[in-house]
Amino acid sequence: MKINANYNNLAESYLFSTIAKKVEEYMVSHPEAQIIRMGIGDVTLPICEKAAEAFSRAAMEQGNAETFHGYGPEQGYDFLRDTIRDYYGGFGVKIKAEDIFISDGAKSDLGNILDLFDEDNTVLIPDPVYPVYLDTNVMAGRNIEYLDAVVSNGFLPLPEKGQKADLIYICSPNNPTGAVYNREQLKEWVDFANEQEAVILFDAAYESFILEPDLPRSIFEIEGAKTCAIEFCSLSKLASFTGTRCGYTVISDELIREGMSIRKMWLRRQTTKFNGVSYPVQRAAEAAFSPEGLEECRNHLDVYQENARVITQTLTELGIWYVGGKNSPYIWMQCPNGMKSWDFFDELLDKAHVVGTPGSGFGKNGEGFFRLSAFGTLENTREAMARMKKMWK
Ligand code: MLT
Repeated sequence: MKINANYNNLAESYLFSTIAKKVEEYMVSHPEAQIIRMGIGDVTLPICEKAAEAFSRAAMEQGNAETFHGYGPEQGYDFLRDTIRDYYGGFGVKIKAEDIFISDGAKSDLGNILDLFDEDNTVLIPDPVYPVYLDTNVMAGRNIEYLDAVVSNGFLPLPEKGQKADLIYICSPNNPTGAVYNREQLKEWVDFANEQEAVILFDAAYESFILEPDLPRSIFEIEGAKTCAIEFCSLSKLASFTGTRCGYTVISDELIREGMSIRKMWLRRQTTKFNGVSYPVQRAAEAAFSPEGLEECRNHLDVYQENARVITQTLTELGIWYVGGKNSPYIWMQCPNGMKSWDFFDELLDKAHVVGTPGSGFGKNGEGFFRLSAFGTLENTREAMARMKKMWK
């Protein structure tokens, strides 16, 4: 018996688990500390009323022989796929309901999609990066090439001459930096991928934070994307589904590699390895996309956006360089006085009792940077910023 030895090449624990453990230890030795969490991007506002009602109504249906639902379609119920197609239509993107696959979240799909691609493929991954893209490829032993995301390119790397790739990860609005690609920049990636017959894995989990109409919310706003991109999205941040779990992946039937339809392959993979998302969750998701549901979600997003404004205003006052926070819930700041990321994490925890995410946890280019998330309450965000200001005085 041989284990998958690639697991030896992973960091000992997942970034957010390491942070949670550190904070827990700190709380044991400092039980009086009033900790404010601005680390993992978990939402603090509840799912909207419409979704909660639909969720419980559907749960009651499951308790009645006449309305009970057994196994559903692995790719999701038509009522939700149609709703998501219309949601895209609302910002001018035409996709077919059959191209939408419902899942329990973008993180799982981003990992599972790799079943479709050979382990010899070369993968382009930005650095810094959401650890899931990296870890899932390390697990498979793939050859990884890094795209440097740094201050000089605004943390938005573009394809370089002579670069070769099979799979390309792009997240916009970006996790962890909050930077957002414009249309021209995404077009460069789409052209590059089509030329090389590569596939872009586009993570759109933060699309709902885009306020500027000129910025693309979906890769499918870019001409040529249907023949080279797969889009992953989630209701986690839009509709507070981090604990309810629902996401979706969009693959056009125009995406063909080596004569195979990637969409068909994904359907084959999902029907074999996945039994779909529970009926009540899909009904809740459908309700979250209703006009009233979306209005309530928008009110929640407004709160997070106000938090981001409070954070960026504080950093500006303190003269600290940052990116993000405008069309994104993440603010990527430079650590003060040339500090290293984990040193700043310790200092902020100890002096202000504020938890953030050390930039170096997202890759080598993250060293010296720090991520703050705007998903807290307004009260806590204001308090955290007041404490940070005090630290610098
Ligand atoms: C994060 O903090 O980076 C996100 O919450 C992670 C996720 O969405 O899985």
